[in-house]
Amino acid sequence: MVSFTKFAILALTAGTINGALVPTADFQKALDVFGLEPPSQLTVSFGGSSSNFPGPDIRPIPGNSPVSQCDANQPQLLNLQKLIIDPNPPERGQNITFVATGFLSKDVEEGAYVDVEVKYGFIKLVHETFDLCEEITKVELECPVLKGEQVIRKTVEIPAEVPPGRYSVVARAYTNKDVFITCLTATIDFPAA
Ligand SMILES: *[C@@H]1O[C@H](CO)[C@@H](O)[C@H](O)[C@H]1NC(C)=O
Repeated sequence: MVSFTKFAILALTAGTINGALVPTADFQKALDVFGLEPPSQLTVSFGGSSSNFPGPDIRPIPGNSPVSQCDANQPQLLNLQKLIIDPNPPERGQNITFVATGFLSKDVEEGAYVDVEVKYGFIKLVHETFDLCEEITKVELECPVLKGEQVIRKTVEIPAEVPPGRYSVVARAYTNKDVFITCLTATIDFPAA
């Protein structure tokens, strides 16, 4: 079972939201693929009206990826200088490799966390907080992550079972002292085969 977090890290994650409303069967399938329980209450939002979704201060990250920096007007510890993905755009059932180069202005220690929100079309698929130090082991990093230049290279497989549709992700990471590390956002469309 491919964990959702893996997907989130892969997508690094979300953007301005304007997807199409998805059929219920696909929504259920998306939950299954990512191992998620159906939410007790579906949140459907239009435009960028959701509280957690990024505002207009989005800065593209150099490279070819659909990932941007969000909340760009606020100081952040990570300056992601370049992000290259291959293939671009990502394809279901294919491996995707990403290479990220960034500069961290302060050490990141145990207790850091990341707040991730994913939407599938207009529907909020997940909104959860993860242990950042645990998640980054998936990209061969470990805490403490020392300040300075960081290069991450990783290949992951995108399962063919991922339902087609528009996925929008926003991830905001903070240190154990609630210092803002980064806000990343991406919108990825998986067309029907
Ligand atoms: C993805 O990479 C893995 C490991 O290198 C490999 O076993 C697998 O066949 C690859 N999948 C595709 C679709 O290329």
